[in-house]
Amino acid sequence: CLVNTKDMLLKAQKEGYAVPAFNIHNLETIQVVVETASELRSPVILAATPGTFKYAGRDYIQAIAETAAKKYSIPIALHLDHHENIEDIKESIELGTKSVMIDGSHLPFEENIQVVKQVVELAHSNGATVEAELGRLGGQEDDLVVDDADSYYTDPQAAKEFVERTGVDSLAVAIGTAHGLYKSAPKLDFNRLREIREVVSVPLVLHGASGIPFEDVRKCIELGCCKVNIATELKISFSNALRQYLIDHPNANDPRKYMEPAKQAMKQVVKEKIEMCMSVNRY
Ligand code: 13P
Ligand code: ZN
Ligand code: NA
Repeated sequence: CLVNTKDMLLKAQKEGYAVPAFNIHNLETIQVVVETASELRSPVILAATPGTFKYAGRDYIQAIAETAAKKYSIPIALHLDHHENIEDIKESIELGTKSVMIDGSHLPFEENIQVVKQVVELAHSNGATVEAELGRLGGQEDDLVVDDADSYYTDPQAAKEFVERTGVDSLAVAIGTAHGLYKSAPKLDFNRLREIREVVSVPLVLHGASGIPFEDVRKCIELGCCKVNIATELKISFSNALRQYLIDHPNANDPRKYMEPAKQAMKQVVKEKIEMCMSVNRY
C-alpha cells in the first residue's frame, strides 16, 4: 500500500541517490509514472498540487494511487505538493495520504515555523511525513506564481533552526532553481547547498528540476538532495505528443487511441529523469 516518504528518503540519502517526485494529474499520468518506475525498480513519489486535487478530486487521486501501490512492488508514495491550507491537508490525511508538503515559504520566519509545527503534529500522529520549504522559488507551479523579485535563497543557519524547531522530515531548499522552464540556464548556488547540508541532517528536496541540466541535478544529489521534483517537462512531453497526434489525425476521437502517444512520450521523460536520479534498481 501507499507509504510515507521517511524510509525511502533516508535510504536514498544514505546511498547517495534521489527519489524522483513526479507531478501527476489524472489516471493516465499516474499510470505512466508507476509503470515506468516499476520497470526500472525505482522508488517513486506521486506529487499532486491543490490545483490537481481541485481538478481531479482528492478521493479519486487517492484511490488511483492506492490501486497503483497495490499493483506494484516498488515503494510508492502519494505526496501533497505545495499545500498551504491545513484543512486540505487534514482532508487528505483522513483519506489515507502519508506524505505532505506544507508550503509556508511566503510567510515570515516565525509564522512559517508555527504553521509547519501544527502540520507536523497532525501528520506525525497519523503516520505521515512532512516536507517544508525555507527560502522561496520563483516561477510558476499551477496556481502558485512567484515573481523573481519575491524569490529568495535559503539561509543555512535559518534552515538549521527551522528544522530543529519544527521537527520536519525533509526540507525544500531554494538555491537558484525555479518552477517551470528557464529563460536562460539557471546558475545554482552549490556552495549554499553544501553549507545547508553541513548543518541540516534531514533529507533535502530540490524543487523546480525541469529545465536543469542533468549534471547540475547530479551535483545537487551529490551535495545532499535526495528528492527531486519534476512537473513541467512531463506536461510538455505529454501535451506536445497529444497535439501532434490530433493534428496528424484530424478525425481522431477515441481517447484510448489519442492518449497513447502522449503517454509514450511522457514515459520517455520519466525514464530519463529516473536515470538522472540514479534511483534505478534500488528495490
Ligand atoms: P518543475 O515544474 O520546474 O519541474 O518543478 C516541479 C516542482 O517543483 C513541483 O513541486
Ligand atoms: Zn515545487
Ligand atoms: Na524548473
